[in-house]
Amino acid sequence: MTTKNYSIATIPGDGIGPEVIRETKKVLQAGEKCFGYSLEWKEFPCSVDHYLATGEILTPSMLQEMQQHDALLLGAIGDPRVKPGTIERGILLTLRFELDQYINLRPAKSFARTPLPVKLPEGEKIDILVVRENTEDFYMGIGAVGQKNLTCDLATTLGLYSMSGSCKASFDKDIRGAIQIGIATEPGIRRVTAWACKAAQKRGESGITLASKSNALPQIYGFWEEIARDEAALHNIDLAIANVDALCYHLVRTPQKYGVILTPNMFGDIVSDLLGAIAGGLGIAAGANIGDGLSMFEPVHGSAPDIAGTGKASPVAAILSGALLLDHLGLETAAQEIEKAVATYLETASSEDLPMEMGGKASTEKVGNRIAAILTKA
Ligand code: NAD
Ligand code: IPM
Ligand code: MN
Repeated sequence: MTTKNYSIATIPGDGIGPEVIRETKKVLQAGEKCFGYSLEWKEFPCSVDHYLATGEILTPSMLQEMQQHDALLLGAIGDPRVKPGTIERGILLTLRFELDQYINLRPAKSFARTPLPVKLPEGEKIDILVVRENTEDFYMGIGAVGQKNLTCDLATTLGLYSMSGSCKASFDKDIRGAIQIGIATEPGIRRVTAWACKAAQKRGESGITLASKSNALPQIYGFWEEIARDEAALHNIDLAIANVDALCYHLVRTPQKYGVILTPNMFGDIVSDLLGAIAGGLGIAAGANIGDGLSMFEPVHGSAPDIAGTGKASPVAAILSGALLLDHLGLETAAQEIEKAVATYLETASSEDLPMEMGGKASTEKVGNRIAAILTKA
């Protein structure tokens, strides 16, 4: 068997990030022995510790160096010692925007025997793919906080376009206020809708569901509906439109009825945590940020400061994100075998040997060891 070599950039990050990345590397390294690939790792220090020690968040030279790699694996970032947003916007959102990673894929799959907070009909499972738009919407960071007069600078450069100008507002009283602006564009909506339609076709499905909210926000989400409907029709895919509030209700009651769910950026963030919980926990919810250049793989969850350092974190979400990374590199068999090893572990472990999030007693390290051992026996 010839060995294919890849270089992987990694940002372990903060809190449980380094803990789950350690186990993910362990599993991906175990796979090297069986599936004809070899990974060379380069770790980047981007994290709150690094920021507090050096003042550096994500430098242009780090970003440039990351782009020399075949993929990027991120644990989680964010820490209560710094103001919310500093590190999240400075690292995670900068990467998604600068690298034009316009697709955020977040599969939500239930495993047999995994305790779920919802009761599924006998023999049914959850197999949802959230396809989240990842570069527009209220995530663009355009806004202002101020007294009486507010000015939002619209100057932005994205992969698809640049914007300029500003937006001004004045209150008639001397009061403080804030503005956040959401942007949606036709090419931005078309490219993610096309991707979701192709993903549905690959799954053998004839329709997708759009999470929208045009009843309250008709400009931005009415526009989304118009463009997504047109793009879906070009792909012969039926587009069901659901208001995101009602969609959340239905996802809790009948998650088994959903396949591909297309979402604007902010709704996708919320729906993917909800689905993480419904399908078995944030500790198994994997994710991928896909662009035409460097793509980034990361679990849906954050740095979980409440359990960092306790060994309670489940590394399964990060390990499954590692499988998505291998799949993206074209190592489909290795990716499928890692998914299978995770399924075997979750389906055969004694209750004690399950991750703590699922009521078991297995530490982060023990879960990683079990999955790596199952993989190498495959
Ligand atoms: P969180 O996802 O970190 O945690 C939410 C809850 O889920 C917590 O109770 C946590 O203990 C639990 N949890 C998360 N991952 C788990 C795992 N692998 N195993 C077991 N339990 C797990 O969300 P939060 O508390 O809102 O955010 C904490 C920090 O992480 C913040 O700074 C936030 O901005 C950041 N964040 C980062 C990312 C990212 O890096 N991709 C994603 C979300 C949040
Ligand atoms: C996620 C996170 C990020 C988001 C935060 C940390 C900016 O919640 O990846 O889901 O909102 O996208
Ligand atoms: Mn989130």
